[in-house]
Parts: sequence; structure tokens; C-alpha cells
Amino acid sequence: MTFRRIGVLTSGGDSPGMNAAVRAVVRAGLSHGIEVYGILEGYKGLVENNLQLFSKPSDVSNIIERSGTAIYTDRCPEFETYEGIASAIETCRKNNIDGVVAIGGDGTFRGATDLAAHGIPTVGIPGTIDNDITATDYTIGLDTAMNTVLTFTDSLRATCESHARCSVVEVMGRHAGHIALRTAVASGAVAVAVAEFDFDEDAVIKSIIEKRNGGKRSFLVIVSEGIPGYAEKLAKTIEEKTGIVTRFCCPAHVQRGGVPTLTDRLVASEMGEYAVRLLLEGKSDIVICKNNDRLCTVDIALALKADRRLKGKMADDEFDALPEKEKEYITVRCKEVMDKMRAMYDLVYAIK
Ligand code: F6P
Repeated sequence: MTFRRIGVLTSGGDSPGMNAAVRAVVRAGLSHGIEVYGILEGYKGLVENNLQLFSKPSDVSNIIERSGTAIYTDRCPEFETYEGIASAIETCRKNNIDGVVAIGGDGTFRGATDLAAHGIPTVGIPGTIDNDITATDYTIGLDTAMNTVLTFTDSLRATCESHARCSVVEVMGRHAGHIALRTAVASGAVAVAVAEFDFDEDAVIKSIIEKRNGGKRSFLVIVSEGIPGYAEKLAKTIEEKTGIVTRFCCPAHVQRGGVPTLTDRLVASEMGEYAVRLLLEGKSDIVICKNNDRLCTVDIALALKADRRLKGKMADDEFDALPEKEKEYITVRCKEVMDKMRAMYDLVYAIK
């Protein structure tokens, strides 16, 4: 197929590095002689025909270093309706958009499969600070978000040390504890709580008391938002049971707005360029992954099934009914992800 134009969109929660991916898609497209439409505000831009044409490289100048997404984002319920999808397809047809690169998380990829099912080739790029796309080791934005958390925890550490206090910090990651686990290691936290593993509150309190008795002044505890409301409650419990003044803190959406790190700009640039090549090779309905430091692709439908299984949203009977090859892939991949998370969890407690 000959491509006339392609579209690029960012959808769902923004993540640092999305702009680098958009820039790479636009510039790679232009270098192949294809104009690129920025689809504004995610799938909403397709439903409402709200596009911005990028016809020359300078149209995406000076965005690689910017936080947020220059083509905006949204979560678009209209796109889940028959009328919404029909309108999106019509936008593609009338603007000669022959393929779409969709940057975002699992919701974004569900939208991409809908487009592909209606004859618009799609390639997904994982962009979410949560790193909760099971098929890939890395999603764009994770590194920046974690560094933003570290800036926050380093500041807290300083004031906790001065006052001999404890801080309990709630970090993002609605369906996955990656940010919590890694920032707990890197901030020198005494404990971490994530939805994926049991948390021994009594043991943590005992350990804080012992350490305080041994002369330790400051304590950080990281809790994932995947355990809703727990961080605040834990802060009160620690204060009550240890006598140490304990504050609850939450960097919230600041985590999404950091200036993209080198890692995020680099991975986003690689994935953006690769996405265009894949579309031009006639590939569709796939998500780009970075595993063992190499780019690869996984069918979006399979990637979404792996996500649902890992997040406990796929019951055993549904899983059992899948083809053997899919079951095998999902089992192996989910185990790999959980093993890595477990190793990180154990590391926090091994070096607390
Ligand atoms: O993009 C992922 C994420 O930041 C999650 O970590 C968080 O739970 C959620 O988005 C917040 O969503 P919203 O921006 O709609 O408040």
C-alpha cells in the first residue's frame, strides 16, 4: 500500500517523552515523503476532525525537551461508541490518513485495535509513567516520573533528618507498583507497600522502632496508589505506634509533568522512528516493546490479554479457553514481570 499521510496521537494520561515520540514520527514520516497529521487531544481529535498538519521538520522543533504532550491528550468515551468510531474512520478517509501511530497506555491500544479493525493500520507506542504494559519492559515516561519522585523524596529526607521524622509518600501507579518499588530502592526507603505483594505492617513498625533505638533519625516509606487510601492511614499508624512524628505526602500529578530525561527522549525517539517504518512495511495492530534492550513488537490484542491477566481482570475460564500459544506467552511474560517486581520488593527490605 502507498501511504499518503499518517496520523499520530497521544491518549490517556500524558507522560514525559511523548513529545520526543511525536517529533520522531513526524520527522521519520517526512523523510519518507509522507506528511503527518497531529491528531489533537487523542481519539477525540479523530472523532471531531481536529488535526494539525506537520508538513515540514521545523513544525516539531523545540518539543523534544518539553514536558506534557504538544498535541494534547484526553480520555475519550465517545470513541468507544459505534458513532464515535464511524466518525473517526470518516476523519481518516477524508484527510487521506492511511495509518495511525497511537502513543499511550492500554486504553490507547484498545482504541488502536478498533481503528485497525475498520481498515486503518495502527502501531502502538507505550507511553505511560506507570510502566503497566505487560508486553514491554519499558514504557515512555517511567524514568522521568521516578526521577521526579526522587527529587521529592530527597527533599523530604533532608527535612525528616533535621526533625527526626518519618514521611510516608504515595506515588502513582494505579494498576502497577513499578514506580513505588524502584523509587523505594533509590530513595533508601525503610519500607514499600504495593498492591502486588503482602505488606507486613507490624514488621515494618518493629523495624522502625529498632532503627530509631539504634540512632536513626529519618525514615521514608513509599506506598503505591494501587492501595487506595493506605498511605495516609499508614502514616497515622506509624506515628501512633512508634511515637515518631510522621507526615503523609503525595507528589500526585507533578510526577507526570517532569522534564523528560535522556532515557525517555531516547526510547521515545527510537520507538517513534520504528513505528513509521513498521507502518510503511505494511504492519498493523501491533505495539512496539523494548525488551532486553531491543525493540520488538507484539500483537496489540495479545498484549492487552497479557495486561488483563496480570492485573487480575481475566478469569481462569477465559484464560483456559485461549489458544495454547497465547496461554504460553501470557504465562511466561506475566511471570517475568512479577519476578522482576518481587526482586525489587525484596531488595528494599534486604538493604533497608
Ligand atoms: O497516567 C497514569 C496515571 O498517572 C496513573 O498513575 C494515575 O492513577 C492516573 O493516571 C491519574 O489519572 P488522572 O490524570 O485522570 O487523574
